[in-house]
Amino acid sequence: MALLVKHMLGLEQVEREDIETILDTAASLQEISYRPVKKVPTLRGKTQVNLFFEPSTRTRTSFEIAGKRLSADVVNFTASASSLSKGETLADTARNLWAMRPDILVVRHSAAGAPHLLAKLLDTPIINAGDGAHEHPTQALLDMFTVREKKRKLSGLKVVIAGDIAHSRVARSNIYGFSKMGAEVWVVGPPTLIPPGIERMGARVSYRLEEAIPDADVIMMLRIQLERGAGSLFPSLREYAIRFGLNPARMRLCKPDVLVMHPGPINRGVEISPEVADGPYSVILDQVEAGVAVRMALLYLLCAGAEHEDTDQGRT
Ligand code: NCD
Repeated sequence: MALLVKHMLGLEQVEREDIETILDTAASLQEISYRPVKKVPTLRGKTQVNLFFEPSTRTRTSFEIAGKRLSADVVNFTASASSLSKGETLADTARNLWAMRPDILVVRHSAAGAPHLLAKLLDTPIINAGDGAHEHPTQALLDMFTVREKKRKLSGLKVVIAGDIAHSRVARSNIYGFSKMGAEVWVVGPPTLIPPGIERMGARVSYRLEEAIPDADVIMMLRIQLERGAGSLFPSLREYAIRFGLNPARMRLCKPDVLVMHPGPINRGVEISPEVADGPYSVILDQVEAGVAVRMALLYLLCAGAEHEDTDQGRT
């Protein structure tokens, strides 16, 4: 079993068939995390390098655990501790790392397109762990996995993504992913945080939570990305929380089986109130759990694909 794609750069270019393969593989690998010995030999002898040029807690840890559960040798490279602070370019850093023969690279970078550049330069599978405000495909895959586990389907569901859409790579990847799987995606937020033309990606737009959430099957709340300048695009966090925060009063408008999601990190009391984040509709920790299984699936499938390619080349 291999994927049609050689790299996981974003869901815009990925076919529905590949998404299904990844979710099915993740479902079969999830059980490993419940064993007393959480390790299988699948990627023994493979080297996975995690290249994180931007801060990350969940995503980096999740990739590291995923690689280790498959017995890969996992090396973490963080920007502050690297030669980048000495002026080395991304391409030079990558070429040097590649000379050490890794089998797979996981990349997070503040510049949109950084993982795509590496995929052009290097002959090794690349996984995008978030590039600027562009895409974060593994987050969307784990979100779809979580919803599919709870609802047993994705097609026909109404998914509302609310908050700082403009700066969110999570929103972009989820719009592509859920739409490809047949769900209807809505984005909600103040007009200044919704990029013009987002409808062309397949999303419906609303500026009021009250309009979008009553028939939603899934509500995904996003953080205001103050570090990307979002703070200047609305009057105050307090006013934002009043108009766009998901709180118990708004939850009363929702369907009884709605799922509340958040990619983290949460800003409690801003986009989501603590009662909702920790409440009965929340699947936020299920998302984190799904992250390990989905990343195990991708590491396995992309490494297996690269191996087929080597064998094919050996034959010709
Ligand atoms: C997100 C990210 O980094 O894009 N978090 C994550 O990966 N779980 C969202 C965010 O930073 O708000």
